[in-house]
Amino acid sequence: MRTIDWVDGAVEIIDQTVLPGELRILRLHTVDELIAAIQSLAVRGAPALGVAGAFGVALAARVHADDPEELADAVRRIENARPTAVNLARGARRAAESLPHGAQAVLAEACRVRDEEIAASEAMAALGADLMVELCGERPRLLTHCNTGGLAAVTVGTALGVVHELHKRGHLAGVVASETRPLLQGARLTSWELSQWGIEHRVAVDSAGPFLMARGEVDAVILGADRICANGDVINKIGSYAHALGARRADLPFVVVAPESTVDLDTASGDAVPIEDRGAAEITAWAPAANPAFDVTPHDLVTAIVTDRRVIRLDRGEKI
Ligand code: MRU
Repeated sequence: MRTIDWVDGAVEIIDQTVLPGELRILRLHTVDELIAAIQSLAVRGAPALGVAGAFGVALAARVHADDPEELADAVRRIENARPTAVNLARGARRAAESLPHGAQAVLAEACRVRDEEIAASEAMAALGADLMVELCGERPRLLTHCNTGGLAAVTVGTALGVVHELHKRGHLAGVVASETRPLLQGARLTSWELSQWGIEHRVAVDSAGPFLMARGEVDAVILGADRICANGDVINKIGSYAHALGARRADLPFVVVAPESTVDLDTASGDAVPIEDRGAAEITAWAPAANPAFDVTPHDLVTAIVTDRRVIRLDRGEKI
């Protein structure tokens, strides 16, 4: 099943804000509706955002075919709907390059972005499963953070795609999903996807992760990325850095799984990445809140990065 797709002239997504209570399909007909869905996290996760960005330009190309200014403005608004995942602006720009060839060409390019993400998920699942067995032995117990399944990447996902592949091969001994505050992508979405796949798992509060590692209850941390910088710094959901510190302290592998579309060689390090600050209302009504949505895991805490084409062993000094 595709969690985002182009169906009969509109973008169809699973509304991730109402899961796991309700499986609701949203049909997005306009750029404004698409941007609202991105900003409310009805569609989220770096690869899915890339596809959403490309389909958004396909929507714009149909409506504003005769108005280049409106069209350029729509592309800009889509690119900037969220700042941190590199895929969103990339997907939008890629589709926008086909604008001179008409709306049909834009849609065809957007469908290619979607298809490439589907293929990348399959490639990462195989590469990542091999690596986890190499690093952890035949039956690893894994801890994952945020949500990196099909909801975040069209079909099977990035890090969760690896978990799925290990399960299929009979090589998975256990999964802990950190609940992922403030919006609980782990508790709501990862847990729901694992249940759909029949994979037994436990949900832990974010602060429990390093303790579970220290107590020897997991063999590795595996998660996704919103952007991977040229030096190997990994930008991912807030809390990833703390898990990397816990893994280093417990001497466990910390493996990042993300498609090449998330690798940003134009950005030297995590210091240069805009970290999204989300609304205080997501946290509390009791006090002023700081709510950065992502953090930077320094490259020296990362064991390996798995993309759809490569396994980059940062622990061995390999370069992005
Ligand atoms: O704010 P979100 O839910 O869009 O953040 C998503 C993440 O941090 C994911 O872990 C990342 O995009 C990897 S998606 C396969």
